[in-house]
Amino acid sequence: MPNAAIIGTGHYLPERVITNDDLARLMDTSDAWIRERTGIAARRWVEPGTSGAELALAASRMALADAGLAAAEIDLLVYATVNPDYAFPGNGPLLQQALGVGTIGAMDIRNQCTGFVYGIAAAHGFIASGAARTVLVVGSEIHSTGLDVSTRGRDMAVLFGDGAGAVLLRATDEDRGVLASVLHSQGEFARELWCELATALVPGRWNDALAAEGRQYPNMNGRTVFQHAIRRFGEAIDEVLAKAGVTKDDVALFVPHQANQRITEMVIRRLGVAPDRVCSNIEHYGNTTAASIPIALSEAVRAGRVRRDDLVVLVGFGSGFTWGANLIRW
Ligand SMILES: CC(C)(COP(=O)(O)OP(=O)(O)OC[C@H]1O[C@@H](n2cnc3c(N)ncnc32)[C@H](O)[C@@H]1OP(=O)(O)O)[C@@H](O)C(=O)NCCC(=O)NCCS
Repeated sequence: MPNAAIIGTGHYLPERVITNDDLARLMDTSDAWIRERTGIAARRWVEPGTSGAELALAASRMALADAGLAAAEIDLLVYATVNPDYAFPGNGPLLQQALGVGTIGAMDIRNQCTGFVYGIAAAHGFIASGAARTVLVVGSEIHSTGLDVSTRGRDMAVLFGDGAGAVLLRATDEDRGVLASVLHSQGEFARELWCELATALVPGRWNDALAAEGRQYPNMNGRTVFQHAIRRFGEAIDEVLAKAGVTKDDVALFVPHQANQRITEMVIRRLGVAPDRVCSNIEHYGNTTAASIPIALSEAVRAGRVRRDDLVVLVGFGSGFTWGANLIRW
């Protein structure tokens, strides 16, 4: 069976910086509250009219350049997002067109903050089975157009930001690539972090009464999410390491989904590793759901934090609830 090596990474952040003080002009919140509870100082928002596929394209081009590959060499595209440009079709085909590649397979993954981890596991499966040789996995999100930026929505609005990240995986006979993945879900908690807009359970898909209640906006029970996240991040890391027969001390870099700096700090404490072995960029970008892991990974690669043969763990938790991890030999 071929291995699935990561041969390129890329990311893209919109230029428009929204600080906590900018949000405090829109709603009853403060820089101190947001920093203390979340570790976030700023996030990026797109200019109106920008599509998620455009962000994905920029991140994908950077990954292609990093790998030294032409887009035509991609034979499968996996697109993870919470925020598709349309209810349907998904963004996979939109990125296929934007990249100008042939009629390759293009699929969307709807696993929220764990979407990228699911995407890597899927890409690995396709490559290992021989069904694909070069797979582009993208996480791209535009939250800014879907947040309630009044005081009613402040618990959510301060957390999320826009951005995209991408990696290219390619079949290799070398002893590197994705070593193991673990994936989980627990739908009993679906309504602890969710959004009802324009979906099959809403007759007529939408009406004014729902809009007046603000049900087009994401909704969250922050404390429940926090408690489950801490537990599941740790479990997923332990499970993926055990599956490959390695220990946390063998791992050079942990790349957790950037949900909240307090969650990341608890994961670091539970792991008992030096903080410089755990990626954190939430201060600058907030939570970019499916994009947060590939953005952090791409930045870590450029900062020289990942070297050939290093073990890297990607780990996510989010709405669903869903959670999981990938272990990669670089
Ligand atoms: C959202 C979160 C930061 C809130 O922190 P918390 O310590 O749980 O705070 P609480 O929910 O108890 O809220 C405390 C108070 O702050 C208020 N508040 C909420 N958002 C606020 C904001 N942006 N600014 C100021 N006050 C805010 C609440 O209304 C509440 O007021 P009350 O006590 O008068 O009712 C925290 O629960 C969290 O990080 N949860 C996980 C979120 C997450 O990671 N989601 C994505 C997972 S992938």
